[in-house]
Amino acid sequence: MLQHKKILLGVTGSIAAYKSALLARELQRRGAEVRVIMTPSATEFITPLTLATLTGHRVYSDFTENKDSGEWTNHVELGLWGDLFLIAPATAQTLSAMVAGTCDNFLMAVHLSSRCPVIAAPAMDLDMFQHDATQTNLKTLQKRGVPIIEPESGPLASGLDGKGRMAEPETIADWLESWFQSQAPLAGKKVVMTAGPTHEPIDAVRFIGNRSSGKMGFALATALKQSGANVHLISGPVQLSDPLGVHVTRVETAVEMHAAALEAFKTADIGIATAAVADFRAKSSASEKLHRNEMPAAIELHENPDILADWGKQKRNDQLLVGFALESDDGVNSAKSKLERKNLDMIVLNSTADPGAGFGTDTNKISVFEQNGNSHIFELKSKEEVAQDIVQLIQIQLQQ
Ligand code: C5P
Repeated sequence: MLQHKKILLGVTGSIAAYKSALLARELQRRGAEVRVIMTPSATEFITPLTLATLTGHRVYSDFTENKDSGEWTNHVELGLWGDLFLIAPATAQTLSAMVAGTCDNFLMAVHLSSRCPVIAAPAMDLDMFQHDATQTNLKTLQKRGVPIIEPESGPLASGLDGKGRMAEPETIADWLESWFQSQAPLAGKKVVMTAGPTHEPIDAVRFIGNRSSGKMGFALATALKQSGANVHLISGPVQLSDPLGVHVTRVETAVEMHAAALEAFKTADIGIATAAVADFRAKSSASEKLHRNEMPAAIELHENPDILADWGKQKRNDQLLVGFALESDDGVNSAKSKLERKNLDMIVLNSTADPGAGFGTDTNKISVFEQNGNSHIFELKSKEEVAQDIVQLIQIQLQQ
């Protein structure tokens, strides 16, 4: 959840400021971009050089860049840059200044100019933390929508033992991951998806299959996960590794995919069928490899279950169903008829007639038709970008 997140890290004058170096590192390790702002007193506990070196960016602590030339640091721009302003450690003094709206240093100016959420991780001695003034400030900030990452109990720099130690960098990073997760547009939504081809055995080594690579489905699973959804991906045989944080069930055949998909759909909010399910399976298959002279002249076929159509039959009013249609012509009528026939809310059409679209490629060109009559035509894009477009349309559908 921290991937590509822009985090302004505000460091104030507490001994816990030495942990800010580890915190900046941990946030970056999890994919965040970090810019550091320090109060003048924080620079007495840890040098800007340390934090600038670790983050690869200058540290901001003063209004002026160059006193001789009069160049100044734009606190407004910096305040607008972040997805989140994390003040860690936040001293009793800073918490009080946040409540009062004081603007007597650069960090407090950014605090007043920032439009992004502000989160504070207090650090101070136990009596300062327990003091009515601090507790009242914390409550006021929380009421204003500033979440507080609770300090921990343990030995304090004063030699006393109690609550006041800033949460450990890993704990803060975990906390932020859960917070971003809870803010994500699809937070709390459970998605079940099918992806890839299915392989229908003829004997121990041969199968009926198709050229689906699973790339579109896997890219979509990743995008959904990044939007906060809980994703269960049921995949046929593909050469792709599990997307991070996605629960993956690997299957071979349409019958296996059907069983897993129908079970998972019962508790899902959204079902998405990207799989290129083989329409037919061999009526019987040999458990050994058949020799050339044992191969039948013709293979009798049985129709496979239509997973998406069965989801459509089961669909409750609170569930959203998205299908895919791969056609070799323009396919609009065929896609629209599948939208109706399979009781879908949305169908994503791609055509092998479009260069760069369809199986195996890293790009795709889609058109989307919705049950409500809306349609959207997109340009050729990477499958990751196409996935983002689909996630956005799903979010809009959920809001309707
Ligand atoms: O094969 P067809 O063009 O009907 O596929 C349209 C949609 O139905 C796709 O979303 C595909 O994943 C789904 N489907 C399925 N089970 C099948 C055949 C298709 O879920 N047996």
